[in-house]
Amino acid sequence: MARTCLAIILAAGEGTRMRSSMPKVLHQVAGLPMVSHVMRVSAKAECEAIAVVTGSGSEAVNTVVQNESKAAQVYEQTERLGTAHAVLAARPALEKSPDDVLVLFGDTPLLKPETLTQMREKLAEGAAVVVLGFRAEDATGYGRLLEADGKLVAIREHRDASEEEKTIDFCNGGIMALAGSSALSLLDAIGNDNAKGEYYLTDVVEIANEQGLTVEAIEAAETEVMGVNTRIGLAEVESIWQRETRVRLMSSGVTMQAPETVFLNADTIIEADVTLEQNVVFGPGVTVKSGARIRAFSHLEGAIVGENAEIGPYARLRPGTDLASGTKVGNFVEIKNAKVAEGAKVNHLTYIGDAEIGEKANIGAGTITCNYDGMNKHKTMIGAGAFIGSNSALVAPVTIGDGAYVASGSVITDDVPENSLGLARGKQVNKDNRAVEIRERNAQLKEHRNKTSR
Ligand code: UD1
Ligand code: CA
Repeated sequence: MARTCLAIILAAGEGTRMRSSMPKVLHQVAGLPMVSHVMRVSAKAECEAIAVVTGSGSEAVNTVVQNESKAAQVYEQTERLGTAHAVLAARPALEKSPDDVLVLFGDTPLLKPETLTQMREKLAEGAAVVVLGFRAEDATGYGRLLEADGKLVAIREHRDASEEEKTIDFCNGGIMALAGSSALSLLDAIGNDNAKGEYYLTDVVEIANEQGLTVEAIEAAETEVMGVNTRIGLAEVESIWQRETRVRLMSSGVTMQAPETVFLNADTIIEADVTLEQNVVFGPGVTVKSGARIRAFSHLEGAIVGENAEIGPYARLRPGTDLASGTKVGNFVEIKNAKVAEGAKVNHLTYIGDAEIGEKANIGAGTITCNYDGMNKHKTMIGAGAFIGSNSALVAPVTIGDGAYVASGSVITDDVPENSLGLARGKQVNKDNRAVEIRERNAQLKEHRNKTSR
């Protein structure tokens, strides 16, 4: 689209009903603050300029916004005098005369970029104001869209509506698109003569009509404009987001055995022909490549799972895990900040941290990389084709050479050279007949105890 676009995201609300010390728009959906969701949707609708309007003293919101986009501008609305007043807090951005202006709310993370694109198309066709409406199951509290001859003539806020107007179920979703050429003059014409004494953004509809400008409404699903006001609402939005995202992934070729038990993050990437078993949880920063299988009850964050790798059941991949193709990570294995090369196996009850594991190495059950000395982290290098016997402790920094063996139960503190056997445990001694002697002694002890207690 050749037209320029400014998205103004309103986020000055206090969100009292969240009962939180954190601003409402910072509460997360799919592990991402709601305001960041709205910023991403704006960016996907090709809004190159993003302005976020925050309440006074909202340093935390500022930080999150800057973290999402360095180019985004934050404007403070010092007094909360209504949605039109909030939009005007971003006046300097409006004065740059973008072609399109989108007004969005920071607490509606389910919005779709296609919907914004559709609204922008209406502006491109000549509309001055485009309103996003929806059919409300319960319209209480929403602004009603008043139409005459199929045209949107006004939006009436619930408090200001007549009994007859209150029967209308076509409501204002809050999202609005304005032509940049008339946006400022329309916004400046808004007064505060209404039940709340606020500057209502919704008044632009009537004003634009009076000026003979084109006003349109398009319709979205109610869920898409769902705003979060309480923790209950937050959970509802989370559940809708998860359901929609699972459906999108399955449509793109991902198998989910029990989709309702898989929890995805806003940035999860899963390629086609991946199978997810039940109860898999994704934290931020995970990519799963084609053909991989994530078995039940696994938890992944900050990890790359290579092609045809198999993870779990009950595996935990932590940030910095990079598993090459064909690797296997089995039950009760935790991996952190480690590269595991092609075909290597870490199948049971193991902790691998700050390590590199070579191709086709085999890490036995109960192996622990002792990576932390209480102050510093150290690295463990395990060569290609190495074989680490069960229940070994590899005290880092330490290197196990290519093709080397480590005997079970070893505590390895020195490097093991290529193709050598590292053996570091007490030597076994067998004592003839000693078991019989012990049994007899124990039997006598027991008999003695029984007599004295009688
Ligand atoms: C608004 C709409 C209503 C619509 C509803 C959809 C107006 C006047 N009303 O009503 O037609 O049906 O949304 O949910 O626009 N905000 C600020 N500063 C302010 C006031 C609001 O930043 O001074 C922000 C809030 O944080 C919120 C958004 O604007 O994100 C909407 O404000 P809110 O007070 O919730 O409006 P509603 O009464 O719900
Ligand atoms: Ca609201």
